[in-house]
Amino acid sequence: MVTVTININGENRTASVPAETTLLRALRDNFNLPGSKLGCDVGDCGACTVIVDGKPINSCLMLAAQAEGRTVLTIEGLASSNGVHPLQRAFEDCASLQCGFCGPGVIMSAKALIDEVPDPSIPQIRDALGGNLCRCTGYVKMIEAIRIAARAMRGETAEVNR
Ligand code: FES
Ligand code: FES
Repeated sequence: MVTVTININGENRTASVPAETTLLRALRDNFNLPGSKLGCDVGDCGACTVIVDGKPINSCLMLAAQAEGRTVLTIEGLASSNGVHPLQRAFEDCASLQCGFCGPGVIMSAKALIDEVPDPSIPQIRDALGGNLCRCTGYVKMIEAIRIAARAMRGETAEVNR
C-alpha cells in the first residue's frame, strides 16, 4: 500500500491505495468522485480525462502515486457557488451530448484548451478533442458549445466569467 496526498478540486485529499492503483480508480473508488468515467482503461477513449497541473491527461494511465503532491481538477470541480461552469451550461444549451458518457472527459479537455488558448479556432478545438472518442455525436454541437463557452469565459457575453 502507498499513501498519497493529492490536491483534488482545491482540497488536499489523502488515501492509502495498492501501489498499482491508477489515478482514475483512486478518484472514483477512494475519493468518491465518479464523474471521470472508466471507458477503455488503456488510454484510447479519453472518458477518464482530468487536468493535472494544468494539462489534460488520461487518468487511467497515471498511477495515483504519480499524482502525489500534484493538483488535479475533475469534472466535479468545475461548478462553483455561482452555478455550473460556462462549458457545462453551453453543452446543455447546445444539446451537445447524447448518452453523455464521453462528456466529462470532453469538457475537461475543452477546459484545458481554453485555459491555454482563450479564443481557440475550430481546428484547435478538433485537435484538443482528438483523444476523446464519442460514438453518439458528430462533435459538431460540442465544438459549437466550446466556442460559446470560450466567448463567455472571455467576458464577451453575460455568462459567468471564470
Ligand atoms: S478510460 Fe482512460 S482513456 Fe479510456
Ligand atoms: S454522447 Fe455518447 S459517447 Fe459521446
